[in-house]
Amino acid sequence: MRKMKKYCYGFCVLSSIIINILFAIYLYLGGRGSGGGSTGGGECALSWSEKAAAEAEAVAAISCSDHGRAYLDGSTNSEGRPVCECYACYVGSDCSQLSRGCAADANSGDPIFLEPFWMQHATNSAILVSGLHRMSYRYNDNLYMSVELENHIRKLHSIVGNAITKDRYIVFGIGSSQLLNAAVYALSSRNSSSPSNVLASIPFYSMYKAQTVLFNSKNFRFGGDTKAWQLNNSTNNMDVVEFVTSPNNPDGELKNSVLGGKTIYDHAYYWPHFTPIPAPSDHDLMIFTLSKLTGHAGARFGWAVIKDKDVYEKILTYIVVADLGISKDTQLRVLKLLKVALEEDGKPFFKFAYNKMKDRWDTLTSIFSKSTRFSIQHIHPLHCNFFNQTRLPSPAYAWVMPRFSSSGHLADLVQSSTLLAPPLFCSPPLQSFSEPPCPPPHHCRLINISKGERERAIDA
Ligand SMILES: *[C@@H]1O[C@H](CO)[C@@H](O)[C@H](O)[C@H]1NC(C)=O
Ligand SMILES: *[C@@H]1O[C@H](CO)[C@@H](O)[C@H](O)[C@H]1NC(C)=O
Ligand SMILES: *[C@@H]1O[C@H](CO)[C@@H](O)[C@H](O)[C@H]1NC(C)=O
Ligand SMILES: *[C@@H]1O[C@H](CO)[C@@H](O)[C@H](O)[C@H]1NC(C)=O
Ligand SMILES: *[C@@H]1O[C@H](CO)[C@@H](O)[C@H](O)[C@H]1NC(C)=O
Repeated sequence: MRKMKKYCYGFCVLSSIIINILFAIYLYLGGRGSGGGSTGGGECALSWSEKAAAEAEAVAAISCSDHGRAYLDGSTNSEGRPVCECYACYVGSDCSQLSRGCAADANSGDPIFLEPFWMQHATNSAILVSGLHRMSYRYNDNLYMSVELENHIRKLHSIVGNAITKDRYIVFGIGSSQLLNAAVYALSSRNSSSPSNVLASIPFYSMYKAQTVLFNSKNFRFGGDTKAWQLNNSTNNMDVVEFVTSPNNPDGELKNSVLGGKTIYDHAYYWPHFTPIPAPSDHDLMIFTLSKLTGHAGARFGWAVIKDKDVYEKILTYIVVADLGISKDTQLRVLKLLKVALEEDGKPFFKFAYNKMKDRWDTLTSIFSKSTRFSIQHIHPLHCNFFNQTRLPSPAYAWVMPRFSSSGHLADLVQSSTLLAPPLFCSPPLQSFSEPPCPPPHHCRLINISKGERERAIDA
C-alpha cells in the first residue's frame, strides 16, 4: 500500500509537471496568437498560482480509499509528505482497514455527508489564496463583512424561501456559535440587579446553556426550560430571552416561541434537506450556519438576520469587540461555496443534499420499525415551497426512545438488545438534552444519533 501511495504521489507530481509543460506551450502559443498584449480582464497568464494549484491537486490525489483525506496542513510522513488522515472507524496508511468494534459517534454532528457533492464540484468550488490576500483588518469600504458575500446570502434566502431578508440587517459570525451568545448579549437586560433569564424548551441544544453559564454575565443567567418557567408564575415573566430552535435539534420539529417575549430563532436546520420549507421565516432575530447548509463546519461561518437596528448594532459591537470581525479568508471561501450552491437556483445542490438525508432517514425508519424496544420520533408531512411538493422532513438527528411498554433503564435495554449492537449507542451524550421528557417510571435516557455523519461510519 505504501508503495502504491508513493507511486500515486510520483504520478501526481509527474502529471502536474506534464500539465505545467502543456500549459506553458499553450500560453506561449496563446501569447503569440493575441499579440502578447494585455487582453484586459478575462484571460490572464497563470504565474504564481501554478505551483499552489499543483500542490493542492497533488495532495488531493493521495488515495485514502475514500475513508480519509490527506491535507496540506495535515500529518506528514518522515519525508515531510502529507499522509492520509482516516475517518472514524478506519485505520491503515491508506485508511483501507475497518477498525474492530468501532462505535458510530452518537454525539457528533459533523456534516460530512455532503463531501461527495463537493468532490463532484471540485472545479467550481476550489479557491486559491495568494500570500497578499486581504491583509488588512477591514474591507475597502471600512467594513468587516464582504458586501458581495452578504448579497449572495440574501439571494440564497430568496431562492430557498426560508427567510425574509429585505430591509433586514445581516451580521456574520464565527459559526452560529458566536452569534448565539452575541444575540443573548444584545437582548439581555442592562440591569445587573435583575439579569435576563435565558430559556429554551427541552430537549434543547446543550450549547445554549453551556455558553450562558461560561460567560457568567451580570446581565443574563440560564433559566432552564420554558415550560417549567411558564408554570412558575412567581417571577417577572417579561425579562426572558428565549431560544427557539426550529427545526429543533435533536427532534427535528418546527417550533414557535412558548413565552412570546424576546426570542432568538436558531434556524441552523431550516434548509430543504432537513425539513420542508412551508414559508419564509420572518422573526426579529434569526441565526443560520454554513455548517449545516453546505457541510463546511470547519470553516466556522454563520450569520444573523436582524430586524431591529439597535439589536443589530449591539450584535455587531459584540462581534467586533470580541474578534474584530471574522476571517477574510473564510469569507472568500464561503462566497465561492455559496456560488456553487446557488447554481441553477440551488436545484442540484439541495436535491443532492435532500436525497442523502432522505435515504438515511428511510434506512433508520425501517430499522426502528422492526424494533419492539425502541422508536424514533414521528414526523409529519408539510408543503415545501422550495421543492413545490408536500413531503416529510428528513431530520439531522434521530431521537431514540424506548417504547413505553418496556420498562427499566434504556442503557440496560441497549446492552441486552440483539437488534442493535451496543457500540452503536456507546457515546456518553445523554446529559446533553437536560431532563428527558418521559414519565418517571421509565427512567429513560434519550440518545441522539447524528444522521449527518459521513456515510460509512453509519453503514459500518
Ligand atoms: C445532538 O448531537 C449533535 C451531534 O453531535 C450535536 O450537535 C447536538 O448538540 C446534540 N444535541 C443536543 C441537544 O445535545
Ligand atoms: C433594575 O432592576 C431593579 C430590580 O428589578 C429595579 O428596582 C430597578 O429600577 C432597575 N433599574 C433600571 C435602571 O431599570
Ligand atoms: C420559581 O420561582 C422561584 C421564586 O422566584 C424560584 O426560586 C424558582 O427557582 C423558580 N422555579 C423554576 C422552575 O423556575
Ligand atoms: C400559576 O398560575 C396558575 C393559574 O394562573 C396557578 O394554577 C398556579 O398554581 C400558579 N403557579 C405558581 C407556581 O404560582
Ligand atoms: C407547483 O406545483 C403545482 C402543481 O404541481 C403547479 O400547478 C404550480 O405551477 C407549481 N408552482 C411553481 C412555482 O412551480
